[in-house]
Amino acid sequence: MKTFIKWVGSKRQTAKTIETLIGPIHGTYYEPFVGGGSVLLRLLPSQAVVNDTNRVLTIAYECFLNDELYSAMLEKLVEFEAKHGEEFYYKTRAVFNQTNFIDNNSKPDVAATFIYLNKASYNGVYRINRYGEYNVPFGHADTLKVIDKNTCDKIHQYMMANKITVLNCDFESVVKDAKEGDVVYFDPPYDVFDGQPMYHHYSSTIFTKDDQVRLKNVVQQLTDKNVRVIVSNSNTEFIKELYKDFKFYNVSVMRVVANKNKFKGRVTELLIDNEK
Ligand SMILES: C[S@@+](CC[C@H](N)C(=O)[O-])C[C@H]1O[C@@H](n2cnc3c(N)ncnc32)[C@H](O)[C@@H]1O
Repeated sequence: MKTFIKWVGSKRQTAKTIETLIGPIHGTYYEPFVGGGSVLLRLLPSQAVVNDTNRVLTIAYECFLNDELYSAMLEKLVEFEAKHGEEFYYKTRAVFNQTNFIDNNSKPDVAATFIYLNKASYNGVYRINRYGEYNVPFGHADTLKVIDKNTCDKIHQYMMANKITVLNCDFESVVKDAKEGDVVYFDPPYDVFDGQPMYHHYSSTIFTKDDQVRLKNVVQQLTDKNVRVIVSNSNTEFIKELYKDFKFYNVSVMRVVANKNKFKGRVTELLIDNEK
C-alpha cells in the first residue's frame, strides 16, 4: 500500500526485504519510529503499535483511525487544494510555525496543514530547523494534487479494520510490553559517517550516539525476552561495532535526500537481525 506522506528516511525501497526477513507475524507488530509508515503499510499487520516523537505526524495517523476525524481532514485538504499557490503556501507555513499551533487547532486541521505543506513543498519533504520551525521552501507547482483519495481511503480502511495503536513518545517505552511472538522493527534516525553533518529533519533535537547506544540496549533486552527484532541503520563503523554480536545484512539503496552531493547516490545500509 502507498503511504500518505513523503518522509526522509522512508524504507519504501527496503520494505520488501524487511517483509521477507520478518515472515508471517503471529503476535503484535511494533514500529517505534514509524515515520511515513512504508514498512507498516507493506506488512499490514492485524495488530500493531506504531509510534513517532513527531506530534503532527502522529496526529495525522490518529485521523486515519477515526471516521469523523478522517472525513474532516479530507474536507480540509480539498479546501487547501483549491487555495493552493505560492502566497497561500507561505501563509500556511507561517501559521504552522506559530507557537501552540497544535493546541489551538483541531486534529483534522493540524493533519491537513501538515500533509498540504509536505505535498506543496520543495522536493515534498518535511524538515525542521534547530528552532523547531518547518522551513522548506515552496515547491513551485502551480497546480497540485494534494489528496490521493484512493490511497488515503485504503490506509483509513486498513487502520479501522485492524487493531492499531498510535503512540507519541520516546521509542524506549513503546516496546516495554513486547513479548515472545511479537516483532519489533526499529528504523531510527541514522548514525552519520565521519564528516557528515547531522541534520534535524524530523525535530529540533538530534538522535545522538548515546541514543543509538540506548537503542542497542533495548534491542538486547528484547532479544533476552525472545522478541524478534530487526533494526535499520547506516553502515558506519560505530553501528557495526555496536551490533557486533548480531547478524547483519547489507542492502543497497538509492539515497536522494542529502544536503551534500557526496552523500547522495547508491549507498549500502544495514539491516540488523537478532534471529539466532
Ligand atoms: C528514519 S525515520 C523512519 C522512517 C520510516 N521507516 C519510513 O519508512 O518513513 C525515523 C523517525 O524516528 C522519529 N524519531 C526520532 N527520535 C525518536 C525517538 N526518540 N523515539 C521515537 N521516534 C523518534 C522521527 O520523527 C522519524 O520519523
